[in-house]
Amino acid sequence: MSESNFESISTEKRIFNPSSAFSDSARVPSLEDYKTKHAETISDPESYWASVAGELEWFEPWTKIRDESGKPFLKWFVDGKTNITVNCIDRHIAAGQGNKAAIIWEGEPGESDARVLTYWDLYREVNRCANALKKLGLKKGDRAAIYLPMIPELAITTLACARLGIIHTVIFAGFSSNSIRDRIDDCGAKLVITADGGWRRGQILNLKSIVDEAIIDCDSVTDVIIVKRGHGDPFPCKVKEGRDKWYHRIIQDQPIHCEPEKMDSEDVLFLLYTSGTTGKPKGIIHTTGGYMTYAYDTTRNVFDIRPEDVYWCSADIGWITGHSYILYGPLLNQATVVMYEGAPNWPDSGRFWELIEKYRVTIFYTAPTAIRAFMKWGDEWPKQRDLSSLRLLGTVGEPINPEAWIWYHELIGNENCPIVDTWWQTETGGIMISPLPGATPTKPGSATLPLFGIEADVLNEEGNSVEAGLLAIKNTWPGIMRGIWGDEQRYRDTYWCKWDGQYYFPGDGARKDEDGYLWILGRVDDVVNVSGHRIGTAELESIFVGHSNVVEAAVIGSAHEIKGQCLVAFITLKAGVDASPEIIDQLNQLVIQDIGKFAVPERIIFAADLPKTRSGKIMRRLLRDIAEGRTMGNVTTLADPSVVEALKRRYAEN
Ligand code: WT7
Repeated sequence: MSESNFESISTEKRIFNPSSAFSDSARVPSLEDYKTKHAETISDPESYWASVAGELEWFEPWTKIRDESGKPFLKWFVDGKTNITVNCIDRHIAAGQGNKAAIIWEGEPGESDARVLTYWDLYREVNRCANALKKLGLKKGDRAAIYLPMIPELAITTLACARLGIIHTVIFAGFSSNSIRDRIDDCGAKLVITADGGWRRGQILNLKSIVDEAIIDCDSVTDVIIVKRGHGDPFPCKVKEGRDKWYHRIIQDQPIHCEPEKMDSEDVLFLLYTSGTTGKPKGIIHTTGGYMTYAYDTTRNVFDIRPEDVYWCSADIGWITGHSYILYGPLLNQATVVMYEGAPNWPDSGRFWELIEKYRVTIFYTAPTAIRAFMKWGDEWPKQRDLSSLRLLGTVGEPINPEAWIWYHELIGNENCPIVDTWWQTETGGIMISPLPGATPTKPGSATLPLFGIEADVLNEEGNSVEAGLLAIKNTWPGIMRGIWGDEQRYRDTYWCKWDGQYYFPGDGARKDEDGYLWILGRVDDVVNVSGHRIGTAELESIFVGHSNVVEAAVIGSAHEIKGQCLVAFITLKAGVDASPEIIDQLNQLVIQDIGKFAVPERIIFAADLPKTRSGKIMRRLLRDIAEGRTMGNVTTLADPSVVEALKRRYAEN
């Protein structure tokens, strides 16, 4: 965990109460209401979840609310049959809301490239796409990889898969060919959906060529669908006869109705790959009924969504935040969602505030790393715009430092909007710990209290409740992952290894204060959170040692002003090989090829030796101390204490 963050949040004492104007009309209007209801949901979780799920539509009811007999393999809403797209779309049309805007989309080029899809439009588009997928021969249980920019078709094709029970795995468009290949190979995807290109800071990303390279040897892939991103001619790309099809062609004559697949509650809805402590990224499994119920409930409680809201989450659908809080959660709640393709600083650093002003956004959800970048770009950008439509702000992805929280509160929220700091993970399916905006007094830097049905604690390794230690979740909840694709053992080992499997172990450190508020301190494993992106240090190390001149590599996370954490690589080269800018460049290229640009380390330090214990284990704690400029703790367990002094010198020189 980052110690500098620990220091700044452990001295933070300010408290901000929700305004009475907000509380008066909120779903949960006071801390007492929250506490009473939370206690009820803990003493009788089954009644709570049954009442939430009962608000949604099911083809067939469940026979049992949860089945933990196979723990850690869990079942919720056993035997229930439903389809999440019916609940995201058809249900709202049936309620007379078909003409409501579901997605307001703007492309990076701006106004000239905007589209609004009502719930009716979404219904037609999703069904035409689903019919086209059916015609290609895809069916329930098949896997489809989706590699698209943030355009409406990303939402449409993902929902079309869900309509048919095709398991979607969305791959963030910043990933490289090798990452795509790993994911496709791991899940055996038959279909890839991509685009001829997408806009990023005025440049066209050639997504199709990245896919082409990825699937050269992927035998499982039989079809590739290419969405034409622009209005006129497609961006240049290769089309392979037989395998590749243009999206606009295959959907053009398809009927606008498509029977939704009757999905069992525990049928897999999607896989989302995420990095862990060891090995390649793992395919986190989410199933239908529980995920749906959890996304629905957390969205309405945390964001207090109402019909007139315009909700914008600035994440990418390629991450879990986008799955749960751009797509499924908001649509399940009949919300109007803003979706934006581009970067926050293109063509200028005021782009996000321009969008908020134009679409009168009322709820804005973003990442601390973005807030710190906004702070750096200067107050004049948000000040030029009318942000008075905003009524609620949220953050996600990493701990927020109190300075950034206060800036967000003052400059963006005009001291008038509650801030929900939402802690959760790919694995949890939805938000777990967060203020309820009308109920919970907030403290800058604290994610505050667990949501309904969630029991969180801070434990030591022995399982005793402590003030600072490891975050632990006691019970299970409908949205929790159901496993890792193809790797049962890894699922058990990673999440249920501690405390006799009695608690879910998320891998984060936390502190609990006198009010029971939780302060998340960051990862306690070898996962680094760079700008809210999770990167496994082991993954990077194995890339580096793949270079013919590298003997050993150790990668750590170090505090970074904007990114929260950055990656620092310590590398030992073969004897006789000189550290040179060329080698740095080659090493960076390997990362770009294997993962993507976002995983390139901030610094590479060449060292003749790495600090090791006498048993040969690299002492990463010391490397972190060096990178963060801390005075070194106990080094007596080192095999060769002089290594540290040499490394410190090298670090200072670089
Ligand atoms: C890890 C999960 C949840 C969607 C985005 C990231 C960190 C997430 C917070 C927060 C402190 C946070 C944790 C967690 N994290 N939200 N509000 N405060 N830390 O999903 O890629 O699965 O990463 O992000 O370390 O374990 P993810």
